[in-house]
Amino acid sequence: MVTRLNVELTRTVDESYPLLIGTDLAGELPGVLDAAGLSRSRVAVITDSTVNDLIGAQVMDVLTRAAQSQPAPRAPRIFVFPTGEENKTRATKEQLEDAMLAAGFNRDTVVVALGGGVVSDLAGFVAATFTRGVPYITMTTTLVGAADAAIGGKTAVDTPVATNLIGAFHQPRAVLIDVARWATLTDAQLRDGMGETVKHACLADRDFFEILEDHFVRRGGSVREMVGDAELSGYIARRNAEIKVEVVQSDVHEGNRRMALNLGHTIGRALEAALDYALPHGECVAIGLNLQCRLGLRYGYLSETEATRVDTLLRAIGLPTELPAGVSVADIMRAMGHDKKSLGGAIRFVFQRGIGAMETFAGGSYAREIPSAEVREFLEVQPRS
Ligand SMILES: NC(=O)c1ccc[n+]([C@@H]2O[C@H](COP(=O)([O-])OP(=O)(O)OC[C@H]3O[C@@H](n4cnc5c(N)ncnc54)[C@H](O)[C@@H]3O)[C@@H](O)[C@H]2O)c1
Ligand SMILES: [Zn+2]
Repeated sequence: MVTRLNVELTRTVDESYPLLIGTDLAGELPGVLDAAGLSRSRVAVITDSTVNDLIGAQVMDVLTRAAQSQPAPRAPRIFVFPTGEENKTRATKEQLEDAMLAAGFNRDTVVVALGGGVVSDLAGFVAATFTRGVPYITMTTTLVGAADAAIGGKTAVDTPVATNLIGAFHQPRAVLIDVARWATLTDAQLRDGMGETVKHACLADRDFFEILEDHFVRRGGSVREMVGDAELSGYIARRNAEIKVEVVQSDVHEGNRRMALNLGHTIGRALEAALDYALPHGECVAIGLNLQCRLGLRYGYLSETEATRVDTLLRAIGLPTELPAGVSVADIMRAMGHDKKSLGGAIRFVFQRGIGAMETFAGGSYAREIPSAEVREFLEVQPRS
C-alpha cells in the first residue's frame, strides 16, 4: 500500500534589493544594513588579502561604530582569504565557515562581501549555506564586479573540473558599487571589465556604445583616463548595472532573455577553456564579441560598418579581437562540445542586431543554431593575431 501526501510549498518571494552606485560608499553601509532590517545582525565581512589591505580597516571602522550604537552591540569581524581565483574553492569556503563558527557567528549573521567577483562569488555562496542561509550585502570594488559579478545572484566556487560548478542562486540584500575603488585597479584589470561593458552596449544601448566610442576611439582616451573622469566612470557603472538588472529582472533563472548576456560568450568561453584560462575572461569575450559580429555579418544581422565599429572600439580599449595564433580551431570546437566526430551537430548562438539590440528568432528566442561544421569553417578562415 502506498500513502501519498502532497507537500504544497508554492510561494512567491520578493527578493528585490537596492543598488547604490557612487564614490567612497563605505559610509553608506550602516544605512544600507538598517534599511534592509539587518542593523541588529552580526556582521561578518569577507574579503581577500588585497582588498583588505586597501580598505578593510576603513570598512571595519564604519561597521564597528555602527554596531556600538546598537542597544546590544556585537562586534563585527573580518575574515580574509588569500587573493586570487585559485582560492575560489570549496576548501576556502570551509575555512571561512570554520572561522566564522569559531568566532561565534550563528543564524543571526549578515555577510558583507567586500571585493571583486572572486569575493562576491565566494562570500555569497558562504552566505547561501551558512546555517542554511543568511543574508549578504555586496560591496564590489572592481569593474568586473560592477559590470557583471555583483548583480544576478549567482554565487559559486571553482572545482578542478570546471569553474563556478558548485554554487547557488542567492540574491544579495543590497549591492554597493564603489566607483572610487577602480582607481587602484591595474590597466589590465580595467580592460578585463571592459569586455563585459562593451557587450552590454552592443546588446542593449547604442548611445552607451557611442559614448564609449567617443572616449576611446575619437579622443584616443585610455582606461586610466576613463577612471580619472568621474562622470564617465559613473555613467559606465550606471549603464552596466541598469542593463544587467533589466535582463536579470526579466529572467531570474536564466531562461530566454538572460541568454542575451551570452553575447560573445559562446566562442569567448570556448576560447578561454581552449587556452586553459591563460587569457583573461574579458579578453576572450572581446574576441568572442568581434567574432559573433563577423559571423552575424554573414546572415545580415548587422552591417560591415557596424561590425567594424565594434572591432575598432575593442582595439581602442586595448582588447584583442582576433584568435591568438597558438590556439587550434579543433580545441575551440572541442570546448564548445563538438569534436571532429560530431559533424552533424549544431551550436546555439546569440547575435546582436546592429549596435544596441539583440537579434530574435522563431518564437521570440534570442538564440539560433548554427551547424557546427559551419562554425568550424568560419573559425578556420578568421585572421589570427
Ligand atoms: N556571479 C557572476 O555572475 C559572475 C559574473 C562574472 C564574473 N564572475 C566571477 O568574478 C571573478 C572575476 O572578477 P574580478 O575580476 O573582480 O576578480 P577578483 O575579485 O579576483 O579581482 C581581481 C583582482 O583585483 C583585486 N582587487 C579587487 N578590488 C581592487 C581594488 N579596488 N583595487 C585594486 N585591486 C583590487 C583582487 O584582489 C584581485 O587580485 C571570477 O571568479 C568570475 O568567475 C562571477
Ligand atoms: Zn562574461
